[in-house]
Amino acid sequence: MNEGNFVTPFAQRFQMRVPVVQAPMAGGATTPAMVAAVSNAGGLGFLAGAALTPEKIASEVAAIRALTDRPFGVNLFVLDPASPDDATVRRALDAIDPLRADLGLPPGRALERYAPDFRAQLETLIELRVPVAGFTFGLLPAADVERLHANGQYVIGTATHVAEGLAWRDAGADAIAAQGAAAGAHRGTFIGPFEDALVDTMVLVPQLADATGLPVLAAGGIMDGRGIVAALALGAQAAMMGTAFLTCRESAIPEVWKTRVRGMSDTSTTVTRAITGRHARGIRNPLMQRLSETADNIAPYPVQNALTQELRQNAGRAQNGDYLSLWAGQGAPLGRSRAEGLGAAELMAQLEQEWLAAAERVAAFTR
Ligand SMILES: Cc1cc2nc3c(=O)[nH]c(=O)nc-3n(C[C@H](O)[C@H](O)[C@H](O)COP(=O)(O)O)c2cc1C
Repeated sequence: MNEGNFVTPFAQRFQMRVPVVQAPMAGGATTPAMVAAVSNAGGLGFLAGAALTPEKIASEVAAIRALTDRPFGVNLFVLDPASPDDATVRRALDAIDPLRADLGLPPGRALERYAPDFRAQLETLIELRVPVAGFTFGLLPAADVERLHANGQYVIGTATHVAEGLAWRDAGADAIAAQGAAAGAHRGTFIGPFEDALVDTMVLVPQLADATGLPVLAAGGIMDGRGIVAALALGAQAAMMGTAFLTCRESAIPEVWKTRVRGMSDTSTTVTRAITGRHARGIRNPLMQRLSETADNIAPYPVQNALTQELRQNAGRAQNGDYLSLWAGQGAPLGRSRAEGLGAAELMAQLEQEWLAAAERVAAFTR
């Protein structure tokens, strides 16, 4: 492709030679090194800011800026402050404590805080003038979208079905991250039951593009150049890829998680709220299984998430994959043929070659 010749308006807007957005992934995957490597390789890197304090977001953004002059994004969860009643916390801990005991941890306790303060995180994104601000789990009020716009920031809202896409459009979003059912980790669903919102990427992307008229980023199950071309053919302006980057060298998740992702089949994952209180797709393991058996005890997100966190962190340090949340998308096996420990820049270079070759193959049919 010629310099200055971009495949979609979204790619042009961010001078992306490769129409790939590296999806934000909370839990340690999207380090500043990964975000910068992807942006430097002609894509758009995205930091997961949701689990970080405002101070940590600021230091991570500074680290990204030290590594790249190119645009990048930061993603947050739109959350109200959690103030669970004692009974909810007690019930959740009754189910979690036996698992803690397995790892030699004392019984858990109620916490002072269950998640970083969303409003403070948002102020930090505004202060730092992060070029692209992305949101999931909820809808940002139009007044906040306006503030981001007035500050020169681009706003991406996550939708898992058309009504959510229209809500983001009405709030003033610039683009929609279309999260299909194959996607790894938490569902962004914020309108209606999650079961109704497991819409396949294949049907979600064109419906969101038609309904909203906004640039749509296709997320869920895209692992290689074929997927990128398919996403573009469906009307997406870029592919948003998470699981493909999860096993990269720069991803700071525990090695055992990477090993399990590389060993997956297409049916290894399921969607559960047992671990965090919000539906998320991950590889089945004893943690998921045992917390699912006590479904009545599960506290809503972010309470359950915070109450299982110490347990999961300990498991991570011990490389114990049985007690970790092994978030991953259904497309993971498509990444198995790539070299282990591949750098994000190398993955981007492979994706660039692959999508151009796949597009050429499709074009050849018409000649
Ligand atoms: C480990 C992991 C963590 C994730 N964390 C976030 C997050 O913090 N914010 C977000 O908007 N999406 C998050 N996602 C979802 C991605 O943004 C995206 O929708 C998904 O990865 C796309 O599907 P794929 O995994 O099949 O590529 C996460 C995905 C994974 C695999």
